[in-house]
Amino acid sequence: MLTGIGDTVTLANGVEMPRLGLGTYKSAEGGDVERAVATALELGYRGIDTASLYGNEEGVGAALAAAPVPREEVFLASKVWNDEQGYDATLAAFERSLERLGTEYLDLYLVHWPRPETPDTWRALERLLAEGRVRAIGVCNHLIHHLDRLLESAEVVPMVNQYEFHPWLQQSGLLGHCEGLDIVAQAWAPLMKGRVDEEAKLVAIGKRHGKSAAQVAIRWILQHGVTTIPKSVTPARIAENADVFDFSLSVEEMRAIDGLDRGERLGPHPDRFPAR
Ligand SMILES: NC(=O)c1ccc[n+]([C@@H]2O[C@H](COP(=O)([O-])OP(=O)(O)OC[C@H]3O[C@@H](n4cnc5c(N)ncnc54)[C@H](OP(=O)(O)O)[C@@H]3O)[C@@H](O)[C@H]2O)c1
Repeated sequence: MLTGIGDTVTLANGVEMPRLGLGTYKSAEGGDVERAVATALELGYRGIDTASLYGNEEGVGAALAAAPVPREEVFLASKVWNDEQGYDATLAAFERSLERLGTEYLDLYLVHWPRPETPDTWRALERLLAEGRVRAIGVCNHLIHHLDRLLESAEVVPMVNQYEFHPWLQQSGLLGHCEGLDIVAQAWAPLMKGRVDEEAKLVAIGKRHGKSAAQVAIRWILQHGVTTIPKSVTPARIAENADVFDFSLSVEEMRAIDGLDRGERLGPHPDRFPAR
C-alpha cells in the first residue's frame, strides 16, 4: 500500500528505506543543492541520494545540519566513485564522504558502477557494515551477470541495486532477479532525465488523473514496488514529484506504460562505462 512520502521499504537486514527520495546528480554544490535538500525535507522527504562524484556532499551536509529534522530521521545515501574502488581506497573514500557530509554514519553506501575491482570494494563495504559505520550497503548499475560475479565472493548480498529504470528502459528480467535475491531495486532517471513530457502516453494518462507526466512516471515506478529518487532543484517540482499518493494507476494504465519499453538507455551501459 502506498500512503505518502513517509512510506518505507524494509531492506534485507531490517533497515527501513524511504520508497521516494530526492536525487541530487547535477544539483550544484552550495546554494542549489542546499536549497533543494532543505525544500525536500520541509515537504516531508526523508531520503537523500548523493555521491562523491556529484561534488555536492558539503552542500547536502550543510542542509542537513541546518534542517529542523534530526539526523536519524533522514536516510542518507552516498556512493564510492570508480577511481576510489578497491579495499583500502574505498575505506579512505568513505571517510572523505563522511567528512564532507558532516555526519558520523551513512544509511546506505553504494558502489557507483561495476568494475573489475568491485569484489574488493565490496569487502570494504561489508567491513563498514559490520563496524556499524553504515546501516546498509548496496550497488548501482549491476546487471544480472555483475550480481552473479559479486555473489561469488560476497558474504553479504547487496541490499539495494540502484539502476536506470523508467518507461523507456524497464529491464524486467533484472527486476525479477533482484526480487529473487531480496535486493530492493531503486530507479535512477525516473523522469527520463526531464524528458517525461515527450512521452504522449504519460501525458494522456496524467490528464485523466489531473496529474503531470512526471507524477505518472513516479507512480508507475512505485506501483511496481520499485523505490526511486527523482532529482530536481526547482521547489515546485520537488513538491510535484512527491504529490503522487492521492491517485493510483489502473491495471490497464500500468500495462500501457509497461508497453512503452524500448530498451533505450539515457545513461551509460554498465558494460561499456569508461574505466575511470
Ligand atoms: N547510480 C547511478 O549511477 C546514478 C546515475 C544517475 C542518477 N542517479 C541518481 O538518480 C537521481 C535521478 O536521476 P537523474 O537526475 O539522472 O534524472 P531524473 O530524476 O530522471 O531527471 C532529472 C531532470 O528532470 C527535471 N525534472 C525534475 N522534476 C521534474 C518534473 N516534475 N517535470 C519535468 N521535469 C522535471 C530536473 O530539472 P530541475 O532540477 O531543473 O527541476 C532534471 O533536469 C540522480 O539525481 C542521482 O541522485 C544515480
